[in-house]
Amino acid sequence: MDKPFIFGIPVEDSYFIGREEEIKRLSTNFKYGVNTILLSPRRWGKTSLVNKVAGLVASKDLIVVKTDVFSCRNEYDFYNTFSAAILKQTESRIEEWKDLAKGFIEKLTPKISLSPDPNSEYSVSLGITPKTHTPEELLDFPEIIAKRKGCHIVVCIDEFQQVGEFPDSLNVQKRMRTIWQHQKNVSYCLYGSKMHMMTNLFQKKSYPFYKFGEVQYLKSIPLDAWTAYISDRFEREQKHISETFIKTLCESVEYQSSYVQQLAYNVFLLTETEVTESILNQAVEDLVDQNSGIFIEQVQSLTTYQLNFLRAVLAGNHSGFGEKEIRENYDLGVPSNIARLKKSLIDKELIEITKDGIIIGDPVLRFWLKKVL
Ligand SMILES: Nc1ncnc2c1ncn2[C@@H]1O[C@H](COP(=O)(O)OP(=O)(O)OP(=O)(O)O)[C@@H](O)[C@H]1O
Ligand SMILES: [Mg+2]
Repeated sequence: MDKPFIFGIPVEDSYFIGREEEIKRLSTNFKYGVNTILLSPRRWGKTSLVNKVAGLVASKDLIVVKTDVFSCRNEYDFYNTFSAAILKQTESRIEEWKDLAKGFIEKLTPKISLSPDPNSEYSVSLGITPKTHTPEELLDFPEIIAKRKGCHIVVCIDEFQQVGEFPDSLNVQKRMRTIWQHQKNVSYCLYGSKMHMMTNLFQKKSYPFYKFGEVQYLKSIPLDAWTAYISDRFEREQKHISETFIKTLCESVEYQSSYVQQLAYNVFLLTETEVTESILNQAVEDLVDQNSGIFIEQVQSLTTYQLNFLRAVLAGNHSGFGEKEIRENYDLGVPSNIARLKKSLIDKELIEITKDGIIIGDPVLRFWLKKVL
């Protein structure tokens, strides 16, 4: 039987809803070769959106290469992942590689093995090192392939924030930017799950990727799309949820895509025939419990001051943390402590700065903190 709801992993087919505007815009950018940076808080649907658009626009003349650099720890890790993705996704037949990658592949002894991944015939590890290729050659590789194939290539790089963690990161970023911005036949779509790190890379003037492309902020999926989807999933199993409860459900997790699906699933499991208020309340409790393991990991190494800062935010304070009253009420230490506290909690993705001041952006984390702090 089909799962009624999916959460935590990218969605496709009938599980993918809404996003009409974003699909249109991103498809247009892919077609016209406009570099795009996708930003959103965690689990709003960046990866799903890029997968969807890639499926829609890909053709012989427009090849979309998707890669994920989450496990890359340094510049050459990145080049190995990047080049293997380009090679594999632009040419499916290994015999054709020699021509296509002439001048590139001879320097390597790639290890090609049958892949455990059922979607792919083979996996490849290229063994690229600073001795085999310069960064410039590697960064230019997609451009060379695009010219040889007479097509445009869009390279989509997920978890791109990892680049900001590489040793000598600023120089790595400079090299990337310098080469990529001159490519005529290749464009890039860069996105990642750590919003504040991505924002640093692309929105700070002093960083090499500043103004590299169009920055798109993902909005939440609106109520009408959720209503159609959720009620359909319930009706299929002879269960009923009113539009009012769907609205309450979405609002209680502030329309954060993955949480909406997870909470809907909790409600679905608790419902025999008709959703009630007490079912909804229980489902929220379950949602908090299900996520508590992740939250415990996030907070277990916090200092007392950091925990106190979270208490202050939870109590409704969004600014003025340096003021005597707040510092004393919540025991935040001396004024010079405050900037450090903020930075460390932002780095840990527990708080974020918005136009309304400092908030705990994750609604489920907020529920949990209220219970435990
Ligand atoms: N278009 C969509 N329609 C319905 N549900 C969605 C959609 N996009 C995302 N979701 C929900 O959000 C979850 C996470 O989606 P996805 O992995 O694409 O997000 P992400 O922003 O890439 O996450 P991360 O920040 O962890 O990289 C999905 O499992 C699904 O529950
Ligand atoms: Mg993702």
